[in-house]
Amino acid sequence: MARIYSETCSASSVNERDSIMENTLYGCDIISMKDLPLARIKLIMKTAARLKAQRALHLLNNKVIAHCFFEPSTRTRLSFEAATLRLGGSVIGFSSDEALSIQKGETLHDTMRVVSEYADLIIIRHPKEGAARLAADISPRPVINAGDGANQHPTQALVDLFTIQECQNKMDGLSIALVGDLKYGRTIHSFAQACMLFDIRLFLVAPESLALPESICDTLKKVGVRFSFHQSIEEVIPKVDILYMTRIQQERFNDAEYQQIRKQYILKPEMFASARPNLKVLHPLPRVNEIDIGVDETPYAYYFEQAANGIYVRQALLTLLLNKEGI
Ligand code: CP
Repeated sequence: MARIYSETCSASSVNERDSIMENTLYGCDIISMKDLPLARIKLIMKTAARLKAQRALHLLNNKVIAHCFFEPSTRTRLSFEAATLRLGGSVIGFSSDEALSIQKGETLHDTMRVVSEYADLIIIRHPKEGAARLAADISPRPVINAGDGANQHPTQALVDLFTIQECQNKMDGLSIALVGDLKYGRTIHSFAQACMLFDIRLFLVAPESLALPESICDTLKKVGVRFSFHQSIEEVIPKVDILYMTRIQQERFNDAEYQQIRKQYILKPEMFASARPNLKVLHPLPRVNEIDIGVDETPYAYYFEQAANGIYVRQALLTLLLNKEGI
């Protein structure tokens, strides 16, 4: 069984409604999945489950959250905004740097230093790897990484774990296929790290040019996660409980390369003939053409429920980082 932290995990207990543990996340930054040992993940999952069940709490009254998005986003930005507003907090921020003094030559360092004076917590998405860590080093307030380049997207991985627990009722013992762009996909990098905390068997489905980075494969091996490489979706469908699809990111390729690769990994309804009855398809979204819209009507599609869960997991994070007593 793969473990990199000393806590033991009965995944079936992740959503149990027993007493909430000590809030070890108060005042912390969330920059990488490496910041999140199993006990913290369990705390986030339990808090998110409670918030999903009871909603309408005023846990962020008088708190100002800065939403600093230097890159496009639909789900992460809007679910963080909805999470903040529904908990009674206020939002400041931007969805691109076009109207910022960065256009006059101001540095990211100075921008984050100033924003940290205006807000109780900073959420940052930035195209450069390491930008969120830099912001955390500068800011006296907690910082959440909402995606930095091809590096990490830890809050998406938490949404993924919450959703898998919800649709499979367990984490340990599952077989999961990661499909598509495993090289540049930051959601994949964070999710693969999260998988190391559970007894999960991975099937890695990608063209060679988009294979999971060697450094992550080495860590998977070191902690004892079983994984194998595959070239087609059909090959793995009968073997897995979760099919985790990802977008081939056009912005990572020149046009000729993109056109060559994009058609290789498209999920279609007829591929489910040999699927397990409990199979669920996840995708961090946005999708382009890698999931045929016919899949949306099958009982296997679970990616819109996954996106909806973003609000509860992000509410849980904001609550835990800003309230010592949690909920
Ligand atoms: N999953 C995700 O990060 O989506 P957005 O880019 O729309 O935020």
